[in-house]
Amino acid sequence: MEGVHIHNMNLVRMLDFQQKGDERGQLVVAEGGGKDIPFEIKRVFYIYGSDSDVVRGCHANRKTEFVMINVAGSSKIRVKDGEGNEAIYFLNRPHTGIYLPTMVWKEMYDFSADSVLLVIASEHYDPNEYIREYFIFEKEIRMEK
Ligand code: TYD
Repeated sequence: MEGVHIHNMNLVRMLDFQQKGDERGQLVVAEGGGKDIPFEIKRVFYIYGSDSDVVRGCHANRKTEFVMINVAGSSKIRVKDGEGNEAIYFLNRPHTGIYLPTMVWKEMYDFSADSVLLVIASEHYDPNEYIREYFIFEKEIRMEK
């Protein structure tokens, strides 16, 4: 039924992690398995040194869910559902993340010079589960319906 199905984009949400601060400074825990991160963590990588005019990502994942946290600096994430809807999120706090489910198109951009974007993933790296062409993403979204 057109127009009533749940888009994975509606599952995108910001996550607020508790800051365990004391006089020595802050500590943030991102524990997997549904405690802080809504999946078992299999992979962590981080992105830094990207110029402000660089656009990264530009892909969707068939299998992997992600949480992204700007542990330093800031960046923006544009999320698209393949059906004409998009949303933009701003990451600028080491205790705030964004949850990205499978089958959403994502673009990371507007990196501050000090941006360190921590990415937590639910799967090991497999280039075959990445969709890097927008028209193929659109096609697979249409096929899901
Ligand atoms: P890429 O997917 O282009 O990064 P982004 O999502 O920021 O656009 O990855 C850059 C390179 O790193 C590419 O050669 C693939 C490699 N890579 C791995 O080997 N393992 C990984 O987990 C990731 C995310 C990338």
